[in-house]
Amino acid sequence: MRLAVASDHGGFRLKAEIISYFKEQGIEFEDLGTYSEESVDYPDYALAVAEAVASGKFDLGVVCCGTGIGVSISANKVPGIRAALCHDTFSARMAREHNDANVLTLGQRVVGPGLALEIVRAFLEAGFQGGGRHSRRVDKICGIEKKYCR
Ligand code: RB5
Repeated sequence: MRLAVASDHGGFRLKAEIISYFKEQGIEFEDLGTYSEESVDYPDYALAVAEAVASGKFDLGVVCCGTGIGVSISANKVPGIRAALCHDTFSARMAREHNDANVLTLGQRVVGPGLALEIVRAFLEAGFQGGGRHSRRVDKICGIEKKYCR
């Protein structure tokens, strides 16, 4: 599994914690920035991860900002991306199992690093349950994209 990870300045320290965890676990990843705590615009980093995942180059993405909200809104504008803002492990698991989310977003100013890493772990360990109702609903999300995203 290959992961794309990024943050703005507001999520920079949390991204560093997540990268340390990936290294520890031998998880393959690419850091798409930002590379310091200097102020930047969060949509640029959300877009980098969203495009990297939507292109198929990466399986999943993780993006951090101060709240996780701005990067979630931004990433969800890219067709094929289902970004989930999760600040608890149950939501992270459900986002994969029911919604086939392919990007996890997190807020450094909302959760501490310990919980954030548990959330990342829950997201990565879960898989889409597929079949029946979940696939039908995700297909409907794709239908909305086809109708409005040109
Ligand atoms: C940056 O100050 C902050 O607005 C950003 O990190 C994020 O929280 C936006 O949603």
